[in-house]
Amino acid sequence: MFPWDTLADVTALARAHPDGIVDLSVGTPVDPVAPIIRDALAAASSSPGYPTTAGTPALRMAAADALARRYGVTGVPESAVLPVIGTKELIAWLPTLLGLGPDDLVVVPELAYPTYEVGARLAGAQLLRADSLTQIGPRTPALVYLNSPSNPTGKVLGADHLRKVVSWARERGVLIASDECYLGLGWDATPVSVLHPSVCDGDHTGLLAVHSLSKTSSLAGYRAGFVAGDPAVVAELLAVRKHAGMMMPTPVQAAMVAALEDDEHEREQRDRYAARREILLPALKSVGFTVDDSEAGLYLWATRGEPCRETLAWLAERGILVAPGEFYGPRGERHVRVALTATDERISAAAERLKG
Ligand SMILES: Cc1ncc(COP(=O)(O)O)c(C=O)c1O
Repeated sequence: MFPWDTLADVTALARAHPDGIVDLSVGTPVDPVAPIIRDALAAASSSPGYPTTAGTPALRMAAADALARRYGVTGVPESAVLPVIGTKELIAWLPTLLGLGPDDLVVVPELAYPTYEVGARLAGAQLLRADSLTQIGPRTPALVYLNSPSNPTGKVLGADHLRKVVSWARERGVLIASDECYLGLGWDATPVSVLHPSVCDGDHTGLLAVHSLSKTSSLAGYRAGFVAGDPAVVAELLAVRKHAGMMMPTPVQAAMVAALEDDEHEREQRDRYAARREILLPALKSVGFTVDDSEAGLYLWATRGEPCRETLAWLAERGILVAPGEFYGPRGERHVRVALTATDERISAAAERLKG
């Protein structure tokens, strides 16, 4: 059963609220796509030929430039960037694309975006949930996932922590995939990329950074992301993806160039999420929730000190739907994940309902 299907009862309860549901569960963007991006999509709509799997030179350059401008990641050549059809696609297939199998170990955070596990399973690889190198023990994984800021917790891994993981991985030839889809959403902490010189000294060997435009540019519907890092690994991914037909449509590539070249809409989007957080965070605390981590990213990781399904029901009675923490790993069984992705009007409605 798809985990979200287990929410049918609480969804029905929340929907029955006289003023309608406030859906803070899946975290799907609701704000309009910026005109500059829509215009680029429309202008490229006559695209009869096949797209290139590698992406246009303009797209690869725009991604490398955006990494430098927005996140201080320098020294990424165009050839070390590859577009993906939404990062969920890449994450679900990465172990398979890398040729991992039953002898290989994939390490994911203890509380994690479920698709890391899906990707390991699709490849038939082994899975370990671990937040520290000591938890991994003497084994040498093939692939280690990092996710800072985290989904679901909003925790940020500092440059020192990332440096340690990178140096440990380098000594063992372990590939790191750093899922950085919330990197631009730092509130009480400044997230840093695994490709940042303060983490890797400018050497991208054995490192992949995964970037999504779904949240930063509200492009979840376009399916737009990219992976950047170790040129040899990117070349290997490109070769397999060419054979597998994993091509981003040409109009989406054009739209993505516009999105990556423009920082203004990205800032506006971040400001919208910041404002929603300023409303929801105190509202949750005022009715007794403890909000853990949540220093960055798109979610509040909240608990009432009870099993998450009880909290789900409590919120659903107030017409608010959130995600149960147990979706993200056993350690999440007493937390719920509250997404900041609803309109300003719905977020205010949620805050009002909480205050009673
Ligand atoms: C941590 C994380 N990684 C990746 C994704 C996938 O995003 P997309 O496929 O839209 O790029 C999500 C989506 O919610 C996510 O939370």
